[in-house]
Amino acid sequence: MCGIVGYVGHRQALDVVLGGLRRLEYRGYDSAGVAVLDGAGALRVQRKAGRLANLETQLDADDRQAFAGTAGMGHTRWATHGPPVDRNSHPHRDASHAVAVVHNGIIENFAELRAELEADGVELASDTDTETAAHLIARAYADGEFAGDFEASVRAVCRRLEGAFTLVVTHAEVPDKIIAARRSSPLVVGVGEGEHFVASDVAAFIEHTREAVELGQDQVVVITREGYQVTDFAGEPAQGKPFTVDWDLSAAEKGGHEYFMLKEIEEQPDALANTLRGHFHNGRITLDEQRLADQDLRDIDKVFVVACGSAYHSGLVAKYAIEHWCRLPVEVELASEFRYRDPVLDRDTLVVAVSQSGETMDTLEAVRHAREQKARVLAVCNTNGAQIPRESDAVLYTHAGPEIGVASTKAFLAQIAANYLVGLALAQARGTKYPDEVAREFADLANTPAAVRKTLATTEQVRALGREIADSKAVLFLGRHVGYPVALEGALKLKELAYMHAEGFAAGELKHGPIALIEQDLPVVVVMPSPKGRAVLHSKLVSNISEIQARGARTIVIAEEGDDAVRPYADSLIEIPATSTLLQPLVATVPLQVLAAEIARSRGYDIDKPRNLAKSVTVE
Ligand code: F6R
Repeated sequence: MCGIVGYVGHRQALDVVLGGLRRLEYRGYDSAGVAVLDGAGALRVQRKAGRLANLETQLDADDRQAFAGTAGMGHTRWATHGPPVDRNSHPHRDASHAVAVVHNGIIENFAELRAELEADGVELASDTDTETAAHLIARAYADGEFAGDFEASVRAVCRRLEGAFTLVVTHAEVPDKIIAARRSSPLVVGVGEGEHFVASDVAAFIEHTREAVELGQDQVVVITREGYQVTDFAGEPAQGKPFTVDWDLSAAEKGGHEYFMLKEIEEQPDALANTLRGHFHNGRITLDEQRLADQDLRDIDKVFVVACGSAYHSGLVAKYAIEHWCRLPVEVELASEFRYRDPVLDRDTLVVAVSQSGETMDTLEAVRHAREQKARVLAVCNTNGAQIPRESDAVLYTHAGPEIGVASTKAFLAQIAANYLVGLALAQARGTKYPDEVAREFADLANTPAAVRKTLATTEQVRALGREIADSKAVLFLGRHVGYPVALEGALKLKELAYMHAEGFAAGELKHGPIALIEQDLPVVVVMPSPKGRAVLHSKLVSNISEIQARGARTIVIAEEGDDAVRPYADSLIEIPATSTLLQPLVATVPLQVLAAEIARSRGYDIDKPRNLAKSVTVE
């Protein structure tokens, strides 16, 4: 939530910063702003409510030449404190306009800090928590123990801040330095030749360098043209973690697609293949970072999957596989509920925390709660070195590549695949599956990228269907067994992209209430189990469809190729390739993603940036 970028180098900072913001806009798009140091003691700031495009229009009207300079920073906002209006947009400045600050996160003690500043006669110009940091840094630099020492002033203020934050700070009197600090929110340094960057995400600078350094908790970095220096909040030298980004600019660009989401839907076969690659060696499943011994995995007597949104749905799918393969009880919990209901956890509990971004605050706090109760935590994450994997005992990375569309697609499928690997790793360690069974399950998984590629051939059919039902008031989704979480995911996609009422139900529950919602022409999407793999469930679902069709619903059925029994009950039939039962969500989800995107497009919405949402939810 909120994207920040800072730059010092040999290029025009405004161009670099705007380029970075364009690729960070997925983190929030309530407002955008930039600050550029002109090298002669002036700090130029412009900020505008709304999308980045508004800021760019304003900069054109202002004359971009006025923003010449080779050091600067920018921000794209998802509003927390104060409505999304110009005055609450970042950067925020102190009264003398010498210091500018951009911020991601929440300063929890801001009310107290604000009161202190106001008692001293400082007039705050915004409703934000961030502005307090700008005033405090300016005051520390102007007077007292840290007077004239920019780094020490920033560190001193960081020590006073509570909550989660990444700050980037500039001072007009120190034009060749940008300082950034982090606690819990993400911050990476980009290392170029004669230029350095700081950003919430490597996507901001991938165009210029793939060499990056991930900062640790409570660290401060000073970047200059020549280098970077890391300390802790006390000023003691510290180390970041260098890494090379393993994807390039093309992965963060639309590549000829109208929307990132459409590109990301098409990238799903690769996302799956890359997630599975390298995890089956010499007949054994391996994780990425395993700080747990096999004995620890054998001692596990209960599993919780904690996650939010789509990641939570991937956990619901995992429950079926892990319980079946490992004979372990699995509970799947919304991370935001988990720690507030006193779950029963101990050393023999495995908590699987699933998060694309690795920075979702609800999931991070669930991880912290689990660790306090001595549970083991395994992170499934798409972002190298993010906070959730850093605080976990073991990690399995999904290699979906950068997901820019706010609605999760390829990361969701990759999470399902990774959760299956976790299940197989557990089954192998615990001996609930023989090695040849593990090998067989993995071979099935390894076939899913091809099955997803085949499913993508339904795209045009599904898009046409989406256009037909785009004016509907609501859409219902039904499924059973692993098709139930797929139905929930289909409904979530439609809600967030097309702003339509959409709900997913376990089809067996229909008669216990939801069937009352059925009315003439209401579209109902049904995810059919395999007629061979799950014959009993299949026939029950056929009955469910005939019941809703009889009551006037328009049935849209996702069914395995050759499923002739369901044909008479399907007003529209979308055929997907046959897979084993547990793997069906990997193919059945794809048409639902396409359907939601096309309905949203027909209704005229921006499918990459749905209203009110942001990609990384770093507040609780
Ligand atoms: C829905 C979506 C969200 C995320 C959720 C968790 O399309 O993208 O529901 O799945 O906010 O995010 P991560 O996986 O980053 O923890």
